[in-house]
Amino acid sequence: MIAGPCFCRELERVNCLAMRRVLIASSNPGKLRDFSGAAAEHGITIASLPDFDSLPGVREDGATFEENARKKAEHYSRLAPGEIVLADDSGLEVDALGGKPGVFSARYAFIGSVVVPDRTDADPLNNKLLLGDLDGLPEDRRTARFVCVLAAGRDGQTLSTFHGEARGRILHAPRGSGGFGYDPLFFFPALGKTFAELTPEEKGRVSHRGAAFRKFLQWYERRPPLG
Ligand code: IMP
Repeated sequence: MIAGPCFCRELERVNCLAMRRVLIASSNPGKLRDFSGAAAEHGITIASLPDFDSLPGVREDGATFEENARKKAEHYSRLAPGEIVLADDSGLEVDALGGKPGVFSARYAFIGSVVVPDRTDADPLNNKLLLGDLDGLPEDRRTARFVCVLAAGRDGQTLSTFHGEARGRILHAPRGSGGFGYDPLFFFPALGKTFAELTPEEKGRVSHRGAAFRKFLQWYERRPPLG
């Protein structure tokens, strides 16, 4: 018997689930580690889009995490025809600062600057500015949340978005050597540790990125066959 198009599409879907590899529009090793940490328990492999750093970039000038995540998903999925590409936009919102640094988290110490150094140089300066902004504030006024919005894109369109958050507070000094960005300052009370003191798997279980990623996985495993 010759298989019809529906059967082939179903087979493609089953094969895809069997391979269970998700392409991420990021080369940030911290984010990829986080995704891998959250995906490991589901038997899913995470891979950066091939040659991500040499692909044309996209301006992250949206007013919200969702706008930026959609923008990245639509842009990068055009460069990988037929594939589902997952893009992430995320950041830290500090209550006492009215939600700042928010969408400016990656370049907080460089708002208004023409040139923003790369992540490894920017992170310590962002953290230093944040500590300065909160100088003298007592524990109960140092509450904050990490937010992550994931957008799943295919062929230039956003298929769906997924939100996650993690609540904690900002310490007076960094603790821990794992993670990236604001992790050493972000204390997560339920575990009594900063995000920089967690393994990638531990962080994946409680982080904003892990929460958004699990919502994505539910959708990914239930979505209709690719057509
Ligand atoms: P973007 O999503 O690449 O635009 O940048 C997000 C920025 O927010 C990062 O560069 C970090 O400064 C901060 N950020 C987002 N998620 C995390 C996290 O899980 N840990 C620490 N910092 C984060």
